[in-house]
Amino acid sequence: MVNIRKTNPETPNIPSWVGNYPFSPQEKKPVVMDREKSILFVYGKGSHKVSCTTAISTNHIQAGMMVVQPGEYFEPPDIHSGDEVYYILDGEGVVMNPETGRGGKAGKGDVVLIPKGVWHQTFNTDDRNLRALAFIAPLQWQAGQAAVPAEFTGKTAYYKGEGRKTAEYGPWPKSSKAPDLENEISFITDRDALHLIHGTVNHFLISFYVSNRRIHVGKISLPRGFRSDLESHPGDEILFVEKGELAVEVHGPADTDEATVNDVFEIGENHYFLIPEGMKHRYLNFSDSSSKILIGIAPQL
Ligand SMILES: [Fe+2]
Ligand SMILES: [Fe+2]
Repeated sequence: MVNIRKTNPETPNIPSWVGNYPFSPQEKKPVVMDREKSILFVYGKGSHKVSCTTAISTNHIQAGMMVVQPGEYFEPPDIHSGDEVYYILDGEGVVMNPETGRGGKAGKGDVVLIPKGVWHQTFNTDDRNLRALAFIAPLQWQAGQAAVPAEFTGKTAYYKGEGRKTAEYGPWPKSSKAPDLENEISFITDRDALHLIHGTVNHFLISFYVSNRRIHVGKISLPRGFRSDLESHPGDEILFVEKGELAVEVHGPADTDEATVNDVFEIGENHYFLIPEGMKHRYLNFSDSSSKILIGIAPQL
């Protein structure tokens, strides 16, 4: 694991890797990353700390993993200058807004959207590690933004807790489930995702959990022995292989559609891959079982 503490003198609170890992915006190129090459960042103070690793952080999007141990949580609450999206890989926990005390429960396969500037705290309420893949776009911390890194000055609004600001948890069930999407944490299950069929010629399932003006997070399901059509995005794309095998063909703007050996990357389970903005690519699954891949794209699809 990589441990980088260096900061830029103009923004002493922000680690220099934010927006620059493993490449600066000018040097971005396709790259396979894993836990070993990730930056380790222990979040929290005192006894309530969690491990956060960042595998890729470009000027548009970041991806990494948070692990919260059973019964644990992080303190103080966290906040970002971008939207953060968790995809729960394992375990179960509660993600809560400490200002309101409101939150919800998420387990394996669920997605949580924490909008930009919304305080949040995550509690493992189960007896296994809570492992969450976390995408943030555009940036975790950004110079000149009100957000961050900032210190939460209030007290978490625990139920029956000291300093609880609100008793307005009820009535429950609510008459309307529509939350204020810009200010509340949202919970999305696979059933609630936007399920679409991709491609002109070769088709696969792409399921969007979140798609807004800052970030798009979803899952693609590639059948065995599959080769997709070429596509590209105006934004950076980060992939994470949850299950199965994946190869990606990446073409420069001047390339023909036929790939050379240098254009094909193999990405194993639990590995990340960066496809920089504008590069044409296709997804391949040479194996004999289907693959599940999480994708984050920002700012535009
Ligand atoms: Fe966070
Ligand atoms: Fe793509």
